[in-house]
Amino acid sequence: MSSNPILLENLSLFPATPEQTLECLKRTAIEWANGFTTEDFVRRETILSLQEHGAEGKLTSWVIAPRANPKTLDFMCSCDTFRRTAVVARPGADPKAKEIIAYGIASVFTPPEKRRNGYARHMMRLLHWVLAPWSTLPPFPKAWGAPPAVAHGNAQLSILYSDIGPNFYYTCGPDGNGTPGWVECESVETSLVLSSERMRENVSAPHKSSHSWMWLGEDDMKYVWEQDVEWMKADLAASASSTSRLQVAFLTDKGVGASQGATLHDVLENIGSGRPTFATWSLDTLASSRTLILTRLRATRVTFPALVERLIEFARRCDVVKIEIWGMNTELQEVAGGLGWETTRRASHLASMKWYGKEVSDEIDWAFNERFCWV
Ligand SMILES: CC(C)(COP(=O)(O)OP(=O)(O)OC[C@H]1O[C@@H](n2cnc3c(N)ncnc32)[C@H](O)[C@@H]1OP(=O)(O)O)[C@@H](O)C(=O)NCCC(=O)NCCS
Repeated sequence: MSSNPILLENLSLFPATPEQTLECLKRTAIEWANGFTTEDFVRRETILSLQEHGAEGKLTSWVIAPRANPKTLDFMCSCDTFRRTAVVARPGADPKAKEIIAYGIASVFTPPEKRRNGYARHMMRLLHWVLAPWSTLPPFPKAWGAPPAVAHGNAQLSILYSDIGPNFYYTCGPDGNGTPGWVECESVETSLVLSSERMRENVSAPHKSSHSWMWLGEDDMKYVWEQDVEWMKADLAASASSTSRLQVAFLTDKGVGASQGATLHDVLENIGSGRPTFATWSLDTLASSRTLILTRLRATRVTFPALVERLIEFARRCDVVKIEIWGMNTELQEVAGGLGWETTRRASHLASMKWYGKEVSDEIDWAFNERFCWV
């Protein structure tokens, strides 16, 4: 703990200046550079932030800094928010999915020498006040001084993926007085560890599936993401009717699906005739065991087994040891179980949401809660 922690009332949340944004990147390299030098990490993150999913003001970096010196490079802690389009479908007479503004929160970071002074908690509590309309929040606590001056004020929903368990973000509510912050939703992964026997299978063995598959290029994928949005909206409306529960989902278009790294590969079956089966994924080559993480999956119980065969074929070629799929529905989990896959609760990357509406999170289903929403 630093010897002279600054009183929280003397701090506020500010959008980072360009110099502070650079400082955020340099600081966070120790945590997330993952094998890159700090310089390369900063360059990579800067390039990624200019892509469609972060461009045109969608990405904002925030810092907690003294009110008296908001532009200091000695700020307390920082995080990023990405504006996203999500959809909501309500049970009842009109379950049609409607677009809403949502935010993904990432890169919550306090430098080691400033930790355990309550800075990150205060930043997260104040974040509600820059994301959501104030009319949806409880009164701003007097003990925190004046509310942040610059705010988006349009969020219906915000999400994050916690790597520090479910409790910390839950306690970061907008009034510091028991109103919950981000509530963990179901965070499951269904995975297959490839046995050495399977790894040894002849990679050039002809594919036996009766399905016709194609690999997708960047333009094909853009087309699929756009189509997928319509299918997702229709699925969401159907789920709202069948479950009588409020359904929310993030959308894959506008660069969001494509934002999962340059190692994206795609496979698709039957485009043009109704809803195709497809999978997109990202290859984590820096993980201790090379992992192929699906970012988006559209399949039925009938097409899933054939898709899995294609995935395994690709995985073998790339020496992948594990294939991982997040947020599969229970029907597909069951099919996967029959094929030797295992479904478990994730220990990290816990999907967590804050809903700025009258419903509580227990009454909401986060549909398509897959890796593509990751920020
Ligand atoms: C997590 C982090 C942002 C907390 O920053 P901070 O300013 O020290 O946070 P606060 O002082 O407001 O709160 C500290 C509380 O955070 C929680 N916390 C911090 N690290 C944690 C961890 N690894 N696991 C679980 N809880 C943790 C604890 O509740 C802790 O309270 P305690 O000190 O009484 O145990 C900081 O430790 C950090 O930058 N870590 C590395 C990056 C990271 O993991 N970011 C979060 C990604 S989801």
